[in-house]
Amino acid sequence: MDVFEPSGVRIAGCGSCVPEKRLTNDDLAGMMDTSDEWIRQRTGISERRILDLDKGESQFLLATESLRNALADADMQASDLDLIIHASVTSKMTCPSTACRIAAELGAEPAGAFDLLAACSGFVYALNVGEAMIRSGRYRSVGVIGCDAMSTAVDYSDRSVAILFGDVAGAAVLVRDEDPHRGCLYQTLNADGRMWPSLYIPDDESDLPVGVEDSGSRMGTLRMDGREVYKFAVGKFRDVIQDALNATGLTVDDVAQFVCHQSNVRIIASAMDKLGLPKEKVYINIDKYGNSSAGSVGLCLDQLWKAGKIKQGDAIVLVAFGGGLTWASSVWRV
Ligand code: UT7
Repeated sequence: MDVFEPSGVRIAGCGSCVPEKRLTNDDLAGMMDTSDEWIRQRTGISERRILDLDKGESQFLLATESLRNALADADMQASDLDLIIHASVTSKMTCPSTACRIAAELGAEPAGAFDLLAACSGFVYALNVGEAMIRSGRYRSVGVIGCDAMSTAVDYSDRSVAILFGDVAGAAVLVRDEDPHRGCLYQTLNADGRMWPSLYIPDDESDLPVGVEDSGSRMGTLRMDGREVYKFAVGKFRDVIQDALNATGLTVDDVAQFVCHQSNVRIIASAMDKLGLPKEKVYINIDKYGNSSAGSVGLCLDQLWKAGKIKQGDAIVLVAFGGGLTWASSVWRV
């Protein structure tokens, strides 16, 4: 690979992919003791998209399509990429990485390819890593993907978890830019692993936290202390956005869009309230897609991008939190 000087970074294109199949609140109410009213009030969700496994859909295909769409939007070929970073906690195989299979499917070899695990923070983690690798001068173009098929990881007899999640993929293609002021102005990647028992997917009983009896949910499905995560997220969203503004000297007025992980509409609303973020600057699509873990921020970014709500020169703030527990922010001059 050629040696480059440190550079700026540009988002050359965005993409996403959502399954056709809808799972509505009424569908869930037919499967478990819940109601459309409870789910809407507590989460803001009306429906979510889920894979149709009978039609051969998979997490891998969803992720692949999102990057294919981002490449088309960037008017680039997969062979133009130096690197693919794919974030997910619901990939079926760990060897090879799903990123390697995506690279092969799209024809990106010999681009580097690896998977990254940061649960719902996955897209922002991948974006930050990809941006830093281009900025360092070592890479010219990186495809980043956040994709989770949470329907394959929830136990549909556990109402405290099943109502929240859906399946989507979001992707972006990042490229080197001559303007060093373009790209990520500030980024954070954080985790507090001591809080892992709040949200985890055990393979077998040895993965259960000390003192936790098997709740009866299937192994390989998500266990979540919803109240604990909720408390954490409400404080963290506010702090992370405030930190991003303080560090960059930007005010709320200076920011075109706050692109937040779609965890629960009440969590986002609480941050809006505490920080005085206006409605038109905080995109919300959780009503239609639920909480799609690593897919959520990338899907929001793509929808805002395609709707022309993010323009060249705009400042945007992306934030997410999730299992780990992890959290991350990314402030961009697009
Ligand atoms: O993306 C990162 C990962 N996760 C999150 O962001 C999740 C954060 N947490 C949440 O979004 C919320 O905690 C939930 C949506 C998961 C739950 O909402 P909540 O307002 O925290 O409900 P809760 O767990 O405090 O439960 C309140 C009541 C309980 O009944 P009692 O004990 O008051 O009689 C639950 O048994 O609601 C009951 N409940 C339900 N009722 C109807 C719990 N789940 C349901 C349900 N339908 N699906």
